[in-house]
Amino acid sequence: MELFEAIQTRRSVRKFQDKPVEDDKLLQLLEAVRMAPSWANMQCWSFIVVKEKSKKETISELSYVESFFAPKGYKVNPAKKALAEAPLVIVACADPEKSGVLWDQPYYMTDLGIASQNLWLAARGLGLGTVFVGVFEERKLCELLGIPQNIRVVGLFPVGYPLEEKAGGPPRKPLSEIVFHETWGR
Ligand SMILES: Cc1cc2nc3c(=O)[nH]c(=O)nc-3n(C[C@H](O)[C@H](O)[C@H](O)COP(=O)(O)O)c2cc1C
Repeated sequence: MELFEAIQTRRSVRKFQDKPVEDDKLLQLLEAVRMAPSWANMQCWSFIVVKEKSKKETISELSYVESFFAPKGYKVNPAKKALAEAPLVIVACADPEKSGVLWDQPYYMTDLGIASQNLWLAARGLGLGTVFVGVFEERKLCELLGIPQNIRVVGLFPVGYPLEEKAGGPPRKPLSEIVFHETWGR
């Protein structure tokens, strides 16, 4: 799939076919993540691939709903079922010590954000689907997966073959609203 088509058609996928992800496709996904740029090329990330059913079910239980979902009427995290039902879940972790902090901005979040978008787009290109799940009980998840105390979990990615092709998605603001020229507000 051509890059711009992937960018235009990528969606959050939360329903999957009952079909495993082939090892070579998983490898390609992880390769896409590995090639992401990062602060001083420090590559502060680690990724845990979880396939065990009982672990995925516990991870699903650890996703929760935050106040920012409430206005949309969600009572549970919209990705909760996806975490239990996807053939695999990729847990994206970061070592903040291995990335920079500049003027109070921790760049490990940026590093992981970029790597995550590589994963998301690569999934699209491979005919797979995923969604960034950013709301979960981090400490309990670390206990479950044996993640050391100095490591932060940034996102969870349930990955599988999409159950349906999503035509549209949530609307985006027009460029006229988000792009200024030369100075703020113009
Ligand atoms: C940082 C981040 C955290 C997110 N966390 C969640 C989440 O916890 N649960 C969920 O269902 N979707 C989550 N999403 C998915 C967004 O809701 C989704 O990307 C957005 O609504 C746009 O839809 P689209 O991805 O289909 O274009 C997250 C996305 C990002 C970038």
